[in-house]
Amino acid sequence: MPEPTRPALALCASSDLQEGGDAVTFDVIEFGRTVQAFALRFDQVAVAYLNRCAHVPTEMDWQPGKFWDQDKRHIICSVHGALYDPPSGQCVGGPCWGARLHRIELKEEGGQVYWYPCERFHPVS
Ligand code: FES
Repeated sequence: MPEPTRPALALCASSDLQEGGDAVTFDVIEFGRTVQAFALRFDQVAVAYLNRCAHVPTEMDWQPGKFWDQDKRHIICSVHGALYDPPSGQCVGGPCWGARLHRIELKEEGGQVYWYPCERFHPVS
């Protein structure tokens, strides 16, 4: 995937995202409102999504930063149990099967994780 043209913003240290560990949450502006996003690591790759279930538009973590199912193979929504594939954000089980989380592009460089603002997601100033 080509690198986005907007400048990347520092999100966290690479070491803050451990395989199977808690997510790092961060705020973004979407359509003028502050909403939460989260980043976590799966198969050594850092990924980030908006913290909004594709079933009902609500935050998904059962405690702050807790997004993993029991096996730490899927992101799980604590409300009705939708399971999402971590690399793609696609729902692979539950009431919104086939739908996707909103992805936020990341890059990881020099021990630091960065996120890319886009047309939809802007930094909180
Ligand atoms: S709100 Fe997430 S599965 Fe229903």
